[in-house]
Order: sequence, then structure tokens, then C-alpha cells
Amino acid sequence: MGDLLSLKQSFLEEVSAVSEAAELQQLKAKYTGRKGLVTAELKALSAVPPAERPSFGKAVNELKDFVERTIEEKESSFKDVEKGRRLLAEKIDITLPGKPDIPGRFHPLNRVLEEIKDIFVSMGFGIEEGPEIELDYYNFEALNIPRHHPARDMQDTFYVSDDVVLRTHTSPVQVRVMERKQPPLKIIAPGKVYRCDADVSHTPMFHQVEGLMVDEGVSFSDLKGVLELFIHSFFGKGTPVRFRPSYFPFTEPSAEVDIGCIFCAGKGCRVCKTTGWLEVMGCGMVNPKVFEMSGYASDAYTGFAFGMGVERLAMLKYSIDDIRLFYENDLRFLRQF
Ligand code: FA5
Ligand code: MG
Repeated sequence: MGDLLSLKQSFLEEVSAVSEAAELQQLKAKYTGRKGLVTAELKALSAVPPAERPSFGKAVNELKDFVERTIEEKESSFKDVEKGRRLLAEKIDITLPGKPDIPGRFHPLNRVLEEIKDIFVSMGFGIEEGPEIELDYYNFEALNIPRHHPARDMQDTFYVSDDVVLRTHTSPVQVRVMERKQPPLKIIAPGKVYRCDADVSHTPMFHQVEGLMVDEGVSFSDLKGVLELFIHSFFGKGTPVRFRPSYFPFTEPSAEVDIGCIFCAGKGCRVCKTTGWLEVMGCGMVNPKVFEMSGYASDAYTGFAFGMGVERLAMLKYSIDDIRLFYENDLRFLRQF
């Protein structure tokens, strides 16, 4: 029995000195493992005189239980300490200010483009698209601009090859649609166009929205009505509008549409070059030659077409004085819309 007491004593000393979980496992093996000290006492039971055997056996078993329980308790206290340490390390200060979630938004040009589309769709126009890499034929020839015609100088063209260009305007979509569909026709064609051009009001890539309406008896007053309604929806009801004679090979007669300068209210300033007017788009009655090229009977139908620069309209609407701001991806600029 004395052996058991000193065994318990030495176990208690050793266990209180243990500082990490791995040592506990060694201690467990040392006392209650297959070749452990307590196990040895159990094995020695047969050598004990029969009279003392029951009480000795009971004492050894109690010691074994004690050793195992003590080690288990110590193990779980190690786990608690470890958990406490981890919780401390992972502590989150919920009083710190959060990182703001900055939601994305539409680019001002897409906003303006959507607004333009909405206005025309509400007037019953459908939406068409055409390729940005376009045949010379659709970009020029079918629009009554033959090769070597001086009117080609109006648009500085990126040539892909002799017969293929980056479209310089959305007008080729007019021809593509007329080849596919019969009148009555009432469409707009928004999209990117390209010109070798760059300054505060010109970029090499920009957006246009083309418009085309063809039917029997479409007149210049229909053109004026549609465009005035558009301008009043887009810029506001009182905006002055005027049609100024101009020239495009694919329309006859042709006009430029001006609005009263929104910067000086028509008094004359630097932006409108003291005229009091700002050009917003080109337009006209479809040239009968274009109808013929597209396979329409030019004596049966009339129509009008127009083409506007989206950047131009956005600049006027939001008083932006440099077109390049749209393409610099400066968030300070873009977040204002
Ligand atoms: C045309 O492109 C004609 N296709 C418009 C048209 C269509 C007339 C149908 C008649 C019938 P113009 O070259 O003027 O026309 O260009 C139209 C608009 O595009 C201009 O008013 C201007 O706002 C815009 N624009 C032209 N070049 C640039 C450029 N480099 N950067 C940004 N906008 C431009
Ligand atoms: Mg022009």
C-alpha cells in the first residue's frame, strides 16, 4: 500500500509540472500505459497474499482511475487555455468604423444612351444594330459617297483594308436595315463609331444614334416634329430648336439641328462661339439614290434620317467641357452622375 501512496505522490508532482498537452500523453503512458507503473501494480496483484488482494486491487484501481481522471481534467484545462488564447487573438473590435460598400453605377454615357433610346422607343421606334467593322460599300458607297468623292474628307477614316473600314458613323445601318425590311420603317441604331480625330470635343471612338423613318408620305414636318419632341424631352420643354440648311450626300434636303445655347441662354458665349446656338445633330430627307441602292422604290416612299453624337448631347446636358473626361475612368468625375 505504501508503494501506491508514493506512486500517487510522484504522479501528482509530475502532473503539476506539466505545461503542455504532449507531455501529458507521455505521463499517461508512464503510469497507465501497457508498461506503466500503475499497470505493473495491477499485474503484481497475483503476488499479493489472498487476504489483502481485494483491498489492494481496489486501491490500485482507484489509483488508476485517479491518474486517468486527473490527466483528462488537465487536458481539458489545456484546451480551455488554448481556446481562450485563440479567442483573444481573433478578437474583433466591433466599435471600429466599417469599410463603406461603394456600389457601382452606370457610366454617364450609358445613362444618356438609355435615355435617348427610351424617348424614341416611347415614340414607337425599334432598335437596330450593325457591325463596327464595316464594308466601305455600306459606310460610303451605298450612302451616295463614291470613292474619291470629296465628301469622304468630312470623316477621317480608319481603313482596315481597301474595302473594309471602322465605320465612321451609324448611317450604314440605314442601308443594312432597308435591305432586310420593307416599309413602313421606324428605327434607331445606337452604337460606337470611329474617326481619326482627337481634341477637347473629339475622340477617335465615340457614339452615335442613327434614326430612320420610311413610309408613304413622310415629310420634312414629320422630321421636325419628331426631333423637336426628342429635344424637348431630353433638354427640357422650353429649349429653342432651329433647323439650319446643310449638306449630307445621303439626305436631300439636309439640315443641322441647333439648340439655343444652354450655357449663355442664347446671349452668345465662348462655347457657342457667340452665335447663341449649339449644333446637336445632322438630319434630312433620305436621298432617293439611297433608296434605290437599298432596293426601295424611290417613287413610292419618302423618309427622313438623323444622326446625333451621344457624347455631344451628354456634354451639353451636364455642362462638361472636355469630352476626354468620359474615357479617363476618373472616379471623382464618374461618381457625380
Ligand atoms: C454624321 O455622322 C451623319 N452620319 C449624321 C446624319 C445621319 C446626317 C443621318 C443626316 C442623316 P457628322 O459627321 O456631323 O454627321 O457627325 C454627327 C455628330 O457626331 C456630330 O454632330 C458630333 O456631335 C459627333 N461627332 C463627330 N465627330 C466626333 C468625334 N470625333 N468625337 C465625338 N463626337 C463626334
Ligand atoms: Mg456635323
